[in-house]
Amino acid sequence: MTPGARFDDLNSVTTRDKTVRLQLLKEQVKNCERCSLSRTRKHVVFGEGSPSARVLVVGEAPGRDEDEQGRPFVGRSGQLLRKLLGESFADLDSEIYIANLIKCRPPNNRNPEPQEIDSCSTYLAQQLDTVSPEVVLAVGAFAARTLLRTKLGIGEMRAKVYFDGDRTVVPTYHPAAALRGGPLVVTKMRADISLVKLYLKGEVSTCPFP
Ligand code: URA
Repeated sequence: MTPGARFDDLNSVTTRDKTVRLQLLKEQVKNCERCSLSRTRKHVVFGEGSPSARVLVVGEAPGRDEDEQGRPFVGRSGQLLRKLLGESFADLDSEIYIANLIKCRPPNNRNPEPQEIDSCSTYLAQQLDTVSPEVVLAVGAFAARTLLRTKLGIGEMRAKVYFDGDRTVVPTYHPAAALRGGPLVVTKMRADISLVKLYLKGEVSTCPFP
């Protein structure tokens, strides 16, 4: 880290600093026992991607494939998400960072419990602070509701770029919902990802979260 730099002074944090900081955090999370998911997980799924990404994708929780491999969004729904992201972003590894609300798989892929989301929230907050993306793509209702502190449904929230005073968030459907819901949901996800791209190009502006 640059001498004198503090991590809360984000302008002075270089990509190398960010890489180191994420690595240190990953080491810490690897041994996490803050909730009971630590007893059933195979691997902690910390997150991956560019430490200087302009876009940070937040999903819900690792599924079976992610738990096996220790990587986010590598199963069927992840492949769909990565394909759709790839239509708008030429190089996912250098342009995107992918994380989840919670870092360990809930047994049988059940929904995350509020207490699990809470226990894990400081890890996601530190990933967001470190990467400091220009925009967060919140994938699915759990991610969008948590980031925007709301109980609204994803269908009501999507298709907008929100600035909530803290961060800029574009909510979209979870790819698992797209796999279940078919082409119409895929089309809406594609539109939301295009919106992220338009925002980065300065072609759309944010609106306040209602
Ligand atoms: N679903 C998620 O929300 N995250 C993953 O990493 C995989 C599936």
